[in-house]
Amino acid sequence: MSAQILDGIVFSAEIKEDVKRRVAAMKEQGVIPGLAVILVGDDPASELYVRNKGKGCEETGMLSRTIRMNAAATQEELEAEIDRLNRDPAIHGILVQLPLPGHLDEAAALAKILPEKDVDGFHLINAGHLMTGTEGVTPCTPKGALYMIRSTGEDLSGKEAVVIGRSNIVGKPMAMLLLQQNCTVTLCHSRTKNLAEHTRRADILVAAVGKAGFVTADMVKEGAIVIDVGINRVDGKVCGDVDFEKVKEKAGWITPVPGGVGRMTIAMLLSNTADAAERTLKRE
Ligand code: GUN
Repeated sequence: MSAQILDGIVFSAEIKEDVKRRVAAMKEQGVIPGLAVILVGDDPASELYVRNKGKGCEETGMLSRTIRMNAAATQEELEAEIDRLNRDPAIHGILVQLPLPGHLDEAAALAKILPEKDVDGFHLINAGHLMTGTEGVTPCTPKGALYMIRSTGEDLSGKEAVVIGRSNIVGKPMAMLLLQQNCTVTLCHSRTKNLAEHTRRADILVAAVGKAGFVTADMVKEGAIVIDVGINRVDGKVCGDVDFEKVKEKAGWITPVPGGVGRMTIAMLLSNTADAAERTLKRE
């Protein structure tokens, strides 16, 4: 039987509708939620993400500001820009588009963002909140992936969850979120031995590898929830980390690429920005 498709277009529209309502309510109180994105250099993939973020802000009625910096910008210049945005009351969320050019210190830049304006959830304070299960900002991609997993209506408690990829942006926070759902979590990576032995046990399989077609049908348990975080380009076509056509015949649920998790990342970013603006309203 063919898997049910977890449609990122439908779910992200749902989230954006909710954000739109919240933005309208804040506007009535005189606050327009504002998101600033810093883009250093002119990487075409980053350009596309940044454009989509701007579009999302427009759709939901938020203020969007893009700060473009030269690829040769210094660490001091980048941090000075972050400081300016930290102090700007019109900006509730700050995002530094990654990856940064190699000469810049990513960790130092992220540490400069005020934790309450860190809508990516990458600041060490927010990473600590996620680790300890206390209130903080959750990274957008794993948050969106969890939304899709929960939409299946399956009881997640005690399920075997396997995450492939240990990045700070996806793999590690994804593992933490699944752990909070009482899953038994295995975090696999490039040095994992006998990977398929792990993945074949997974009731929930999250692939965040960055290699087209990496997850094949023989690696997937019958009826599993398969979440594909990969965005790869093969012959000009966008595809995920999962061999979608074959795996969908075996999985219970599967996310497509495009139209899957990628859509959720932007929706969750908008939601995190609305959260940040609501927090400032509460403080005022
Ligand atoms: N580059 C790829 N994904 C992301 C993301 O979620 N946030 C930021 N800031 N940069 C990225």
